[in-house]
Amino acid sequence: MKKLLLIFLSSFLILQTVRGFDYHDKELESEESLSKLYERWRSHHSVPRSLHEREKRFNVFRHNVMHVHKTNKKNKPYKLKLNKFADLTVHEFKNAYTGSNIKHHRMLQGLKRGSKRFMYENSTRVPSSVDWREKGAVTEVKNQGQCGSCWAFSTVAAVEGINKIKTNKLVSLSEQELVDCDTYQNEGCNGGLMEIAFEFIKKNGGITTEDNYPYEGIDGKCDASKDNGEVVTIDGHENVPENDEDALLKAVANQPVSVAIDAGSSNFQFYSEGVFTGYCGTELNHGVAVVGYGSDSKGRKYWIVRNSWGPEWGEGGYIKLERGIDDSEGRCGIAMEASYPVKLSSSNPYAPEDDDVKDEL
Ligand SMILES: *[C@@H]1O[C@H](CO)[C@@H](O)[C@H](O)[C@H]1NC(C)=O
Repeated sequence: MKKLLLIFLSSFLILQTVRGFDYHDKELESEESLSKLYERWRSHHSVPRSLHEREKRFNVFRHNVMHVHKTNKKNKPYKLKLNKFADLTVHEFKNAYTGSNIKHHRMLQGLKRGSKRFMYENSTRVPSSVDWREKGAVTEVKNQGQCGSCWAFSTVAAVEGINKIKTNKLVSLSEQELVDCDTYQNEGCNGGLMEIAFEFIKKNGGITTEDNYPYEGIDGKCDASKDNGEVVTIDGHENVPENDEDALLKAVANQPVSVAIDAGSSNFQFYSEGVFTGYCGTELNHGVAVVGYGSDSKGRKYWIVRNSWGPEWGEGGYIKLERGIDDSEGRCGIAMEASYPVKLSSSNPYAPEDDDVKDEL
């Protein structure tokens, strides 16, 4: 009875909708209510914290709650939520979840590889919106855990995409194989570059399945027995011309594309939904995949970006990043380091118009 009444009452109160974990304005009023809110958040996200750590974590949580609350009160095209990162400082969050150090690795590796060719240069098939998820070319959102292997997830998402487009088979592929075996220039949980990973897959004779070589989220020894079961091959990779969102558009219209972004801001940390127009730098630190683009009812253009922080973050694991801004590097630097795998086949090298085009291997 009491429960029913509560449900009844709460439907009349204006809840802060932060999908998954909601809070009420009242809960922010006192130290005591905030403390209760923290406990409620911890049990919702099953975040274990030692007693010793609790005070520090609670201080961070309180700061983050106020940030989320204030931001959501402003009339921004995106909303934040108290997700599983809510008691981490932005510094801790960056270190733990955006550790691909793309910029650092790019500096170590020097200029981009690959041919200078951009196969979609003259592509005219650029629909007003594209969503590769709807075409069945995107696997379920994955979770990298506390390992800077975003580069492997970004690489794999693009390979899974082109493989589906060319063979009509969607196969979930192994990030762990890249983490363990692509170690000559890439550095597993310490980061890497997608470009190098594409070349590794080509030289290696392919990449095996997620099932065969499952993700562990730690640097491991390359398991040669699993490494043998290569199933999906590529023929190389190409880069999207730098700082050119129009070129990126042509590429994404044809296949999912690996990109690097700067994900190290608190608004990115707590992103919930909508078109993200928030602050980002261009210190590329995170590898993700663009799996489409579109625009909302107000005409705001966005990229559909697949992240690897599990489905609880953002819109089911995705973020809509503002597209087509004056800044030539793109929002969060999305146009700076875009590349995609090349997979040849006997037919038209461009992506099929429909799902039912099958290529013979
Ligand atoms: C695009 O068209 C130009 C001019 O015809 C040509 O030189 C170039 O090779 C084409 N690019 C590709 C990737 O086919």
